[in-house]
Amino acid sequence: MPVAFPEGFLWGAATSSHQVEGQAHGNDWWDWEQRSGVIHDGTRSGDAAGWWGGRAEDDLRRAADLGQTAHRLSVEWSRIEPEPGRFDEAALARYAAILDTAQALGLRTMVTLHHFTLPRWATAGGSWLDPGLPDRLGVLADRCARAWGDRVDLWATINEPNVLGLMGYGAGQWPPGHARLDLALRAMANLLRAHAAASMALHRAQPSARVGIVLNLPWIDPDRPTHPLDRAITRVQDWVFNGAWLWALQHGRIPPPLSVRPQLVPGLAGSFDWLGVNYYGRMAVRFDPRAVSRGFGSHVQEPSVRSGVADWGQIHPAGLAGQLRRTARLGAPVYVTENGVCDPDDRLRPRYLVDHVRAVRQVLAEGVDVRGYFHWSLIDNFEWAEGWSAHFGLFALDRHTQARTPRRSAEVYAAICKSHGAALDDALGAEP
Ligand code: FCB
Repeated sequence: MPVAFPEGFLWGAATSSHQVEGQAHGNDWWDWEQRSGVIHDGTRSGDAAGWWGGRAEDDLRRAADLGQTAHRLSVEWSRIEPEPGRFDEAALARYAAILDTAQALGLRTMVTLHHFTLPRWATAGGSWLDPGLPDRLGVLADRCARAWGDRVDLWATINEPNVLGLMGYGAGQWPPGHARLDLALRAMANLLRAHAAASMALHRAQPSARVGIVLNLPWIDPDRPTHPLDRAITRVQDWVFNGAWLWALQHGRIPPPLSVRPQLVPGLAGSFDWLGVNYYGRMAVRFDPRAVSRGFGSHVQEPSVRSGVADWGQIHPAGLAGQLRRTARLGAPVYVTENGVCDPDDRLRPRYLVDHVRAVRQVLAEGVDVRGYFHWSLIDNFEWAEGWSAHFGLFALDRHTQARTPRRSAEVYAAICKSHGAALDDALGAEP
């Protein structure tokens, strides 16, 4: 039998700075958490999983012990550049130490420069509405590349600009709290410019850099497959959320509706050496005259695993296969940069994990160039507007005692990683 997972295929998990580090008090999320009513369960990030204080190394060791061969993390802009133009050498050194530990443990490193949080100073200019911010991300990228260089195997410029634009500027649920479609579209276009600026800076500072961007690509389907309005609205939603981003990267231009007419962005074409797909589930779209802000389409998929206000969609592994095929058409290698399920009891996660890795195996067999799978997340963490009420970890975290407990899915994933995927079909063992 041919080897299903190519040599060098990476097995990892993903985290992000604000969600695990703790005491990130220089960023916009920290300020946002102090408001009442914005975090579903009223909690705050606080000490998070204690990574900044020294627990990163222990958790990376846990990941390596489970057979993982890579880790995706993000860095906190507000720590590295606490004031515009002033870089904190101690913060750069702390990240260098974390990356050194990862490499010593045999973990390849994927580093995201911007995963939702902005330094407080960047909010003064309007956050991602500020036309000057893309160049500032370029400056950060340059500084990071020169500080860490070869410690970083894969650079990701920005995490889920589509989600950030929607939640922070269109839905008002994340900082800076705008709820206007026009502002969401402006922020999204600016995020694409920022990706291009960061990519150019990384390549300039480190010619061997492997640079990508991470998109959230849900599977968006009409609820009634033959209903013309469900179908038409699905096409629109899929374009704005998924298709327009891939088109922009392919053509180097920002397309409508993110821009009034296609707008050329210097450096956007050819800005990626790889592409990251974050995939959680399927959205079923049904025509709904009341859903004005969603282009008259409500999401009516089966009640799935949700917590509080967020819905990551219906569990649908075939959607991951579909989005990997679609992304790979741009001609660059693809990574699954996040995939996971909100499931405190670990009732669904083992099968979810196996079925989604099977979807990866399926597209590999078709010749799609997928280079790695990163599960979201290594450990329970501060889940943005959900606070501490959403549990995505392979490890459960008691944030008061900082105790970690592996869930069954940690063992299931370990069997997959340690066998380089050969044990995939046996990994669930006897279902309890
Ligand atoms: C993604 C985010 C990540 C985490 C997961 C559950 O949209 O990139 O930080 O919140 O969802």
